[in-house]
Amino acid sequence: MKLNYEFFYDWTKANLNIHLNGYKEKQLQRRIASVMKNAGAVTLEEYTGKIQKDPAVKQEFLDYITINVTDFFRNQDIFEEFEKQLVTYLSPQFPNLKIWSAACSTGAEAYSMAMILDKHGIRSSEKILATDIDETILKRAKAGAYKTHEMKNVSDADRSRYFQEENGTFYLTPAIKNRVQFKKHDLIADRFSSDFHAIVCRNVTIYFKNEVKEELYQKFSDSLIPGGLFFTGATEAIYNPEAYGFKKLSPFIYEKI
Ligand SMILES: C[S@@+](CC[C@H](N)C(=O)[O-])C[C@H]1O[C@@H](n2cnc3c(N)ncnc32)[C@H](O)[C@@H]1O
Repeated sequence: MKLNYEFFYDWTKANLNIHLNGYKEKQLQRRIASVMKNAGAVTLEEYTGKIQKDPAVKQEFLDYITINVTDFFRNQDIFEEFEKQLVTYLSPQFPNLKIWSAACSTGAEAYSMAMILDKHGIRSSEKILATDIDETILKRAKAGAYKTHEMKNVSDADRSRYFQEENGTFYLTPAIKNRVQFKKHDLIADRFSSDFHAIVCRNVTIYFKNEVKEELYQKFSDSLIPGGLFFTGATEAIYNPEAYGFKKLSPFIYEKI
């Protein structure tokens, strides 16, 4: 049976404020069909009724489409490159760094940056802004508590310096937690703030349609100050950075001209 995705996109936009028509269609529709089946619905019309009535079904749907996979220092070689740029290029030029981790998931990416700033004694009165569309994951991020399997990229030195372990859970120290501020933000629908020195947006534009991705690159560029840096994910190199006013410094780091 052909599923009525147009109806579903309109419904999710009106009722859940999620703009699914910005996401790549094939991948998204596969996920929707699968999560709909899990809920025991046969049509999308029936599925919307279940989402409305049962908070667990609604949560499962939101979890399924947001894909929260993340890690501390994800793709370590790229993070080392970030560290180098933050320490040798950005921090000497700008005394008060304004940094945004867009689509931050559990906060591992933003907290990794906070650890880097702390390690190098980089002070900043601005907190790192960390945003995501998913309110459930933002609650987890704010808690700053991680299980052992989420800690695989954190060195022993960083574990003992920045975390306290209790019964298999690693709690971030207040000093690192206080360097990050979490907020709900939808990259497709919401306004962007400006005057950032660095924006990190990794492993989310892969889910968006090309035209949405292109619009986002322009908006990120507009949100950076000249000389500011944009970090992308390991599979998200921008093939025409000049079109957005970026100069490529490495495959995943771009400078706003
Ligand atoms: C795969 S995770 C990436 C996390 C982190 N940036 C990293 O690279 O490890 C993708 C995140 O994008 C978020 N996301 C999906 N659509 C979004 C949107 N329209 N606006 C903001 N965040 C979104 C999801 O909730 C999820 O937490």
